[in-house]
Amino acid sequence: MSAVEQSRHLATEVPGPASRELTKRRAAAVSRGVGTSMPVFAARAAGGILEDVDGNRFIDLGSGIAVTTIGSSAPRVVDAVRAQVADFTHTCFMVTPYQQYVAVAEHLNRLTPGSGAKRSALFNSGAEAVENAVKIARSYTRKQAVVAFDHAYHGRTNMAMALTAKSMPYKSGFGPFAPEIYRAPLSYPYRDGLIDKGLATDGERAAQRAIDVIAKQVGAENLAAVVIEPIQGEGGFIVPAEGFLPALLDWCRRHDVVFVADEVQSGVARTGKWFACEHEGVEPDLVCIAKGIADGLPLSAVTGRAEIMDAPHSSGVGGTFGGNPLACAAALATIETIEADGLLERARQIERLMKDRLLALQAADDRIGDVRGRGAMIAVEFVKSDTAEPDAALTSALAAAAVAAGVIVLTAGTFGNVVRFLPPLTISDGLLAEGLDVVAGVLAGL
Ligand SMILES: Cc1ncc(COP(=O)(O)O)c(C=O)c1O
Repeated sequence: MSAVEQSRHLATEVPGPASRELTKRRAAAVSRGVGTSMPVFAARAAGGILEDVDGNRFIDLGSGIAVTTIGSSAPRVVDAVRAQVADFTHTCFMVTPYQQYVAVAEHLNRLTPGSGAKRSALFNSGAEAVENAVKIARSYTRKQAVVAFDHAYHGRTNMAMALTAKSMPYKSGFGPFAPEIYRAPLSYPYRDGLIDKGLATDGERAAQRAIDVIAKQVGAENLAAVVIEPIQGEGGFIVPAEGFLPALLDWCRRHDVVFVADEVQSGVARTGKWFACEHEGVEPDLVCIAKGIADGLPLSAVTGRAEIMDAPHSSGVGGTFGGNPLACAAALATIETIEADGLLERARQIERLMKDRLLALQAADDRIGDVRGRGAMIAVEFVKSDTAEPDAALTSALAAAAVAAGVIVLTAGTFGNVVRFLPPLTISDGLLAEGLDVVAGVLAGL
C-alpha cells in the first residue's frame, strides 16, 4: 500500500484554501455541465483513505463511484501498469493486437456466470459497453426494440441516456432520444410494499407485471434485448424481490430476447460475488462490465454467449482505445488481487458490518425508511418521519456534513433520497466503523 496514512484527519476546514482556489480555477476552465459532488480536490488515495490538496484525509465510502474496489493505486496494479507503460502504451488492438487484451477476455469469459462458450469485447466506459451490448443484441436477433426499467441508469451517451430513466440531470434538454426504447416497471420492494405487501416479496409477480407491459406495449417479436441492472446503482441500490430476475430471464429465453445484465456498478466482487446476478443463479446472455474491473484505468467489456457475441460482422464493433494495454494490465492485476486476497469474502464481511450498524440506526431513527443492498454496496433510503415521502433535503445535508467531518459518502435515487455506501474492499474494519460512526453522529444533528 502507498504511504497515505490510514487515518481520518482534518488539517483545515473543508474545503480548505487550496481546494477553494482550485474550485475558482475549475469554474473558469471546466464546463459547467460536468458536475462535482465533493468540494475538495484529491491529491492522493490508497486503502480506505483519500487525501486532499490541503492535507485533509477522508474515509472513502464511495470508491470513486464503485471503481477503486481493491483500493486506489493497489500495489499489484501500480507494478503492472508501470511495467506496461515502459513496454508500450498503445498499438490499437484493431491494428496490432496484443496478448493482454486476450488474457482479459479469457478471464472475463471464465468469471461471468454461465458455463457455455463465451466471448468478450473491450471498450473504455460503462456507457460504451451498454451501447455495444445493444448493437450486438440487435445484430443477433435482427430485431430493434430494447426494454429498460424504471429508475434505471445506463450512462450518458445517446443510447445509454435513452435507456436511463431519470430526466434531471441526465436527459433534460438533450433529446431527441434514440428510438425503440421502452420502459417497464421494476421490482422495488420498499416502495412496492407500500402499495401491495405481496408484490414486495413475490418477485415472480413483480416480473409478471413487467412482462405484461412488455408483451402488450412492445411485443416479443419486436424485442431485441431487455437491459437490466441486477442491483440498480444510481437508482439507489434497489435489489429486486427474489424471483424477479429469474422470471424475467426465463421469459426472455422463451421469446428469443437477449437478456443483458448491466453489471457496470454491481459487478467485479462489489456484492460478494463476481457478479450480482449470481446471487439468484441468473446466467445472462450478455454482461456489461466496467468501473471496478481495472482499479480506475478506463476499461469496460461486454461478455456473453459466443453465438451472440459473434453475431456482428468483422469490424462492426471496436474503437481506437478499447482494451488499451495499460487498462488491460491494470485489469489483470485487479483480477489477481481479488482472487489472491479473498476479496469476495471480504465484501460479505463488509455487508455484515454495515448492515448491523445501519439496521440498528434505522431501529432508532424513523427517518430511515429502508436499508438494503448486498456486499459492499449498501444504501439507506431517507424519508420524512413516519411517512414514505422521500427526504432529499436531509440526504444532501447528510452527505455535505459527512464530508465536512472527514467521510466521503455518495447520494443516489430517483428521488435523491438515498445515501449509498461503496467502500473499497481493502478498507479496515476500524476505518469502516469510524466512517459509519461519523455518519450516525452527523445524522443525529440534522
Ligand atoms: C449500471 C451502470 N451502467 C452504466 C454506467 C455508465 O458507466 P460510465 O460512467 O463508465 O459510462 C454506470 C455508471 O454509473 C452504471 O452505474
